[in-house]
Amino acid sequence: MPSSSSAPAKRPSLRRRSAEKKGAPAKGAAKATFVVVANRLPVDRVELPDGSTDWRTSPGGLVTALEPVMRRNGGAWIGWHGAPDEALEPFDNDGLSLVPVPISATELEEYYEGFSNATLWPLYHDVVAYPEFHREWWDAYVRVNQRFADRAAEVAAQDAVVWVQDYQLQLVPQMLRELRPDVRIGFFLHIPFPPNELFQQLPWRRQILEGLLGADLVGFQMPGAAQNFIRLVRQRVGHKTHRDTVYLPDGRRVLARAYPISIDTSGLEELARRPETEARAMEIRESLGNPDKVLLGIDRLDYTKGLRQRLRAFGELVTDGTIDFEQAVFVQVATPSRERVDQYRVLRDDIDRLVGRINGDVGRIGHPPITYLHSSYPRDEMAALYRAADVMVVTPLRDGMNLVAKEYVACRYDDTGALVLSEFAGAAAELKQAYQVNPYDINGMKDRLYEAMTGSTRDRARRMRAMRKQVTEHDIDRWATTFLDELARTDPTHDKKPRPV
Ligand code: F6P
Repeated sequence: MPSSSSAPAKRPSLRRRSAEKKGAPAKGAAKATFVVVANRLPVDRVELPDGSTDWRTSPGGLVTALEPVMRRNGGAWIGWHGAPDEALEPFDNDGLSLVPVPISATELEEYYEGFSNATLWPLYHDVVAYPEFHREWWDAYVRVNQRFADRAAEVAAQDAVVWVQDYQLQLVPQMLRELRPDVRIGFFLHIPFPPNELFQQLPWRRQILEGLLGADLVGFQMPGAAQNFIRLVRQRVGHKTHRDTVYLPDGRRVLARAYPISIDTSGLEELARRPETEARAMEIRESLGNPDKVLLGIDRLDYTKGLRQRLRAFGELVTDGTIDFEQAVFVQVATPSRERVDQYRVLRDDIDRLVGRINGDVGRIGHPPITYLHSSYPRDEMAALYRAADVMVVTPLRDGMNLVAKEYVACRYDDTGALVLSEFAGAAAELKQAYQVNPYDINGMKDRLYEAMTGSTRDRARRMRAMRKQVTEHDIDRWATTFLDELARTDPTHDKKPRPV
């Protein structure tokens, strides 16, 4: 785990100015041989008691995995720091070199909330909500991607490795290659990649594919996603492909493969084993009235997560008398997310109403069947919640991976607990021993929830042991190392002769 406070941060100078203008050159940043480019920087701004602000490394898995690589290589991380209309100079935090990219308030609406999260996000998640297509959103996406690419081109040393992350930045590989043909470029998509039947709706489908083809290695969560990409490149761009390789007319080859992402398993297990975590877990159970079974959901409040379906299934189990809610309670933590996007507002109202209805219909004084927390919690509280839960319920309608499922497993070091997991989460391919469900099938989900609550201790331990082996052997460190090793093995491509056709 990266320490969040060991070294004092070198404070960045804060200058307010319009971010609509081209970003200022990264004057303060030294050239880096390893560069991560992601929509967000891995830091959160915190207010200190004296009213000043400082930065803390955010406890994400990605920074945990990449931190050692960055330190070894004098790496730099390029990203947005989370506030619009504010330009910051590059700065160091905890020994990490951070290069902020400014985003204006209008770009926040059009590039982030708009094209990234109201066009691409629903389109790439099986169209579980309608994607909106607006030309001005696309223009902002191009403009902001170009700014990230410019910044990466300034920061990367000769022959550096640049690793671009996720759906917000799919044009960066091609834009960067045009500026810096010497660098080796990797791209990893953290969310699903749709089949042609859905992807073809996108008016800018060809530009996105060409953007990704700027990379030497394009990584996906699942083999099916990599195959979708290869097929689309063949059909829509017309390049020759063979298995996981695209052959470009200029002689370059692009590999597309699956690298299922994971978590900092040992770091989380260590946290879960701490006596204070265990004590907090007992306290949580006590405050719930010490029921026989605690069911838990932890998700970003997102319409892809299947919250409505899971709460309905649990609500019906209570109302039809299959379970006595004084014996089994559901704790749902929903972390606020993308709150200005319409679909997320609608979802929040729906969940508020649904929880209110179930609790109102069947709850008694001091005994609501569902405890609903619209809040985010630090890592130690999450570990305590995982320890407190007998059944973890993860039911997305579509999910690239789902790290909550893996985190729960990592915390069950004593092989207790049960995981109910949607077939539509990438994690289902690895966590085969979970109680798998189709979240669209409410009756099926009720059966599986009941089974997970009442299954024998022995069967639950057998399942958990197998899943723990999986997340222990395949952690975030192995994920990053595998990707970067394969990226290092790709051909240096800038000196390639055109391939004879
Ligand atoms: O799952 C994709 C992802 O972008 C994650 O990388 C991130 O943690 C999450 O969605 C929330 O992202 P944001 O708050 O930046 O929209």
